[in-house]
Amino acid sequence: MNYIWSKKSLLDFLYNSITSVVKRKDFVFSDLFAWTWIVGRYFKEKWHKIIANDLQYYSFVLNKNYIENHKILPFYGLEKEIPWLFTADWHHTQQIVLDYLNNLPQKEGFIYKNYAPGGTKWKEFERMYFTDENAKKCDVIRIKIEKWKKDNKITENEYYFLLASLLESIDKVANTASVYGAFLKNFKKSAKVLMVLQSAEFYLNNYEHQVFNEDVNKLILEISHNVVYLDPPYNHRQYNWNYHLLETIAKYDNPKIKWKTWMRVDPEKKSMFCSRTEVKKSFKFLIDNIKAKYVFLSYNDEWLMNLDDIKEIMSSRWEYWVFTKEYRRFKADKTENRNHKKDSVIEYLHYVKIN
Ligand SMILES: C[S@@+](CC[C@H](N)C(=O)[O-])C[C@H]1O[C@@H](n2cnc3c(N)ncnc32)[C@H](O)[C@@H]1O
Repeated sequence: MNYIWSKKSLLDFLYNSITSVVKRKDFVFSDLFAWTWIVGRYFKEKWHKIIANDLQYYSFVLNKNYIENHKILPFYGLEKEIPWLFTADWHHTQQIVLDYLNNLPQKEGFIYKNYAPGGTKWKEFERMYFTDENAKKCDVIRIKIEKWKKDNKITENEYYFLLASLLESIDKVANTASVYGAFLKNFKKSAKVLMVLQSAEFYLNNYEHQVFNEDVNKLILEISHNVVYLDPPYNHRQYNWNYHLLETIAKYDNPKIKWKTWMRVDPEKKSMFCSRTEVKKSFKFLIDNIKAKYVFLSYNDEWLMNLDDIKEIMSSRWEYWVFTKEYRRFKADKTENRNHKKDSVIEYLHYVKIN
């Protein structure tokens, strides 16, 4: 996955700030706008139970694997189809299944027919998100994973491990600048490489974790936890516009697609946290309904809400503080995303201890 807009570079800042306030690792930690899983995965290595949630389905799939999976997957149900699984060391079973999928003959499915030049050459213009080979390889693997699930040959944990492995691997050979808003006019070097299905490695431990795919303001009424981490969107651009192809590969639901980028016509999953007029109301609802001891929020200046709004809303629950860290802005931010003038930004981690 492309992590440039994730919190990857801020993990130490987040972890050190949070653990300077919260001393108990047996508390349940919820990452409710989880996206790439990067924050929850980091806490999973150091903390006990993790809850992760995101509105996008492909993000749910990634989190189901990286957060919820915590034991080696044996793939018992595939021993008839892949007999050498019988004799394999249990540490190798995951890789054996990936190797088997890697060697299936390619197939012309939805991805090839809509996102590769060979499959779209009769349409009004050719689409070049993936090479023909990578699109067909993606199709055959995606179809096989679904068939195994339908035939009850793989467990839910095994299903999400395989899907997450496919999402991570296909993303590496996408012919885009970084997100799926557009494809490049010529295939770049990394896009010409034949995709290899690689293992989406998850951290093994002895705790049960939970992952959801819900609107945070609905979920918040249903779950209990001790420490909540919030990292909502910061501008009006809906995440599903930029990542529509990962969503389609994850769902593989033959969606209606349109517009210049051939994205999904998926109106139901709009986030109120991306709406200038709705964001404050949604954020207030969320904060007011959290039943936890500590709430941490990543939200910087210049975003849809301002710092005074945040302070006012969070203070309504009790004691409010904020941690800050200055860091250099990633270059692509300047050109592609927002019209920033500064080279560095201040990262804010707001928090409230609830009475
Ligand atoms: C800024 S990103 C989170 C980044 C994440 N912390 C990371 O480091 O990868 C915001 C995420 O919030 C999700 N989101 C937006 N509105 C939501 C809602 N109402 N309920 C749940 N998730 C939502 C988006 O799908 C997106 O993945």
